[in-house]
Formats: sequence, C-alpha cells, structure tokens
Amino acid sequence: MRTATTVTQMLLRLCFLALLVLGVLFWTGHAIGLEPLHMAIGGVFVLGLWAMAILGFASKAGADLVVMALIGGVIVLALGMTQKALMIGDLHWIVRVVHLLVGLAAMGLAEQIARRVKA
Ligand code: HEM
Repeated sequence: MRTATTVTQMLLRLCFLALLVLGVLFWTGHAIGLEPLHMAIGGVFVLGLWAMAILGFASKAGADLVVMALIGGVIVLALGMTQKALMIGDLHWIVRVVHLLVGLAAMGLAEQIARRVKA
C-alpha cells in the first residue's frame, strides 16, 4: 500500500508542477497552444487524486479526507472544463484565481491522505 501511495503521490506532484508551470504561462499570455496538454495532464491529475482517495479508503485514512478528495476531483474537473466560458470579461480573474486555489486544495488533500496512509 505504501509503494502504491508513493507512486501515486509522485505522479500527482509531477502533474501538479506541470499544471502550475503551464497555467502561469497561460496567465502571462504564453503557450496558449498547450491548453489541450494542460487539460490532459489535469485529467491525469484528477484520476491520480481519485486513486489516492481509494488508497486512503483502503487503509482507513479517514472518511472525511477520502470524501473530500472524491468530490474535489469532480470540482477540479468541472471547473477546468468549463472555466473558459465562466464570467467572461473583467471578472474572469476571479474564475482564474478560484481554478488555481481549487487545484492547490486538491493537491493538499492528496498530500494529507498520503501522509495518513504512510503513518
Ligand atoms: C491541480 C490542478 C490544476 C492546476 C493547479 C491548474 C492551474 C491553472 C492555472 C494557474 C491556469 C492559468 C490561470 C487560469 O486561466 O485559470 C490554468 C488555466 C487553465 N486550466 Fe488549469 N489547472 C489545473 C487543472 C485543470 C484541469 C483538470 C483542467 C481541465 C480538464 C484545466 C483546464 C484549464 C484551462 C482550459 C485553462 C485556460 C483557461 C483560460 O484561458 O481562461 N486545468 N490552470
């Protein structure tokens, strides 16, 4: 269980880093053509998050975190898929900040589950 958790954790960290780098590039008006890559990595990230939730469930890491990770994955995915169409205009920055914060929170959840599984 520990090995699977470590592998999933590393995958999530890698995806997260790539998503952040690409996201910051988009935010500053660069590499817009890499959006599909960002979305594909985002999809892998969400699958990894759900895998972490299952690992957490299997090792009784706490139902609260597991449920939050499952729901968090749905929110990250739903927001990412729709965000370009949300609040277009002057207030779109709010959607962008929320997108980043939701991603950060999801990563934090995965790290917490991993810590509990390994404890
Ligand atoms: C940990 C997960 C994620 C992080 C940290 C992250 C981070 C970011 C950041 C910082 C940006 C630039 C600011 C913005 O436009 O919002 C961005 C843009 C974007 N992200 Fe993500 N992202 C994540 C997951 C996803 C997922 C799962 C999808 C879709 C499946 C997605 C789709 C997009 C799209 C389409 C944009 C461009 C939006 C625009 O041009 O307004 N992201 N992301």
